[in-house]
Amino acid sequence: QVEASLRPRYLNEYIGQSHTKETLHIFIEAAKQRKEALDHVLLYGPPGLGKTTLSAIIANELGVNLQTTSGPAIERPGDLAAILTNLQQGDVLFIDEIHRLHRSVEEVLYPAMEDFALDIVIGKGPSARSVRLDLPPFTLVGATTRAGALSSPLRDRFGVVCRLDYYSVDDLTKIVYRSAEILGVEIHGNGAEEIALRSRGTPRVVIRLLKRVRDYVQVKGDGIITEEMAKEALEILQVDKLGLDQVDHKLLMSIMEKFQGGPVGLDTIAAMIGEESQTVEDVYEPYLLQIGFLQRTPRGRVVTANCYKHFGLEMPS
Ligand code: ADE
Repeated sequence: QVEASLRPRYLNEYIGQSHTKETLHIFIEAAKQRKEALDHVLLYGPPGLGKTTLSAIIANELGVNLQTTSGPAIERPGDLAAILTNLQQGDVLFIDEIHRLHRSVEEVLYPAMEDFALDIVIGKGPSARSVRLDLPPFTLVGATTRAGALSSPLRDRFGVVCRLDYYSVDDLTKIVYRSAEILGVEIHGNGAEEIALRSRGTPRVVIRLLKRVRDYVQVKGDGIITEEMAKEALEILQVDKLGLDQVDHKLLMSIMEKFQGGPVGLDTIAAMIGEESQTVEDVYEPYLLQIGFLQRTPRGRVVTANCYKHFGLEMPS
């Protein structure tokens, strides 16, 4: 219950992403005034920035039901048809990882999004015919880490497209204070900033670190989070000043130590840290690119001078 309440439920509780908030506010209000379903919304950006939370907020603001599923969970066209025929007027259907929808399922989605219609094929062979079922107008909210991975017919069917960016330390600090209050933990001085600084621009990370720091001060201190205690706890969690963890360290150190800083191919990097290439590309890389530690070149990934500096290493000439 406390867990769930850490997620903001309305736009005015949501911290950060001011552009997305403003955009959504206008389109939600307009749809409500006209008593229509909101146009389909695509949310994209790195993991942990609040795509799922925003889909729930959209449904709450509209005062409609939310149905949640994900691209890989919808295996056959019939699965999607079952979901679509259960929707009520104006409902929000959230599809996470929408870039992983099967082609055959995607094709059912096109007429559903465009005409609120479901084309069902009855029978097989020469006598097969198609029957069109009407659906209630609904809002599809799609989320993806990579807008580029969406087929263009699918992307073109979203009327509202929002890109989520990494959060500023300021916004993350506000999220720490808000979450600490909900969790009932006292936080003093620069304790909140210290946690925010090391959260790689990501609310999901800031909340995880806050919970671990809370555990630490409960056992090792007096239950109050101070800057000193936060630093100690984060030291133990092996999260460095930029929020880089053991996996990031291994990834960057391997490129520097084994490949003189690169260029190295994505698959090689993935093999070095024992992850899938896709995970490296979607989860680990975006933040390292954002802070300018890693660069993409046509021949592979290279580590930058800033990265060498952070690790106190000499850059090969
Ligand atoms: N908790 C997690 N993400 C949040 C956000 N963006 N605003 C407020 N609280 C949050």
